[in-house]
Amino acid sequence: MTRQANNALRIIQVSDCHVSSDPRADYRGENADRNLADLLPAMRAWQPDLVLLTGDISEDGSAASYGRVTALLGTLEAPLLALPGNHDLPDVMKRFFPQGPWDGLYQQVMKNWQLVLLDSTEQNRIGGLILQQELDQLDRCLSSSNAAFTFVALHHQPVPVNSAWIDRYALEDPESFFKVLDRNPRVRCVVWGHVHQEFQSMRGGVHLLGSPSTVANSLKETLRFTLDKAGPACRWLELTAEGEIETGLLRAGQSSATGKTSQRIR
Ligand SMILES: [Fe+2]
Repeated sequence: MTRQANNALRIIQVSDCHVSSDPRADYRGENADRNLADLLPAMRAWQPDLVLLTGDISEDGSAASYGRVTALLGTLEAPLLALPGNHDLPDVMKRFFPQGPWDGLYQQVMKNWQLVLLDSTEQNRIGGLILQQELDQLDRCLSSSNAAFTFVALHHQPVPVNSAWIDRYALEDPESFFKVLDRNPRVRCVVWGHVHQEFQSMRGGVHLLGSPSTVANSLKETLRFTLDKAGPACRWLELTAEGEIETGLLRAGQSSATGKTSQRIR
């Protein structure tokens, strides 16, 4: 399928790059710059309409790290949307990614889809939190949209991924978050990063998708971070004009999408 043929919105989700000020820095035995760069050919071949970054783009919040990430991903010639993770410094990050939830949530409509980006971070906190006033804003934003379908992105997982080391730092009070989604049936998909592993589930008619890191991932369902030798990855998503979603992972050395799943909801 080509984007011209099916008119789907093609997104690549990039998460948890953990790039440091020093490009030689070690992250869990890996090099963040090199692993991100190694994924670029597969991303380019996939021809995204949009690149969505779901937090922990930087390990240390440095301008140098954001500068190198935007330089690399800018070569894809697709718009960049970004939201912060617990390692990011929003005041620095927003200078490099002007489109994001820097002053309340960020929303944009593309091809029948409302894309909503949330900031689930709180200063000096590893886990996630969305304040009541932010949930109220989300509710207003979702209910007033003219788009047929909605896609929501945040950094922290709103459901456990069954790995104790990272579920300690999940989104707090996910029930309040899901209450807002339940009032807005156009929501079809929620994506996040933070978990350094792939995760897929359904809740009602909503896809719940956790995405891997571009630097280092863990084997699933482990008590401690346990390096997954399958390596770094990013997620691709096709959101069709009819509200269907297809998704899978891209890895270094792949020239086309694999692991493609057809998950159709109407
Ligand atoms: Fe994180």
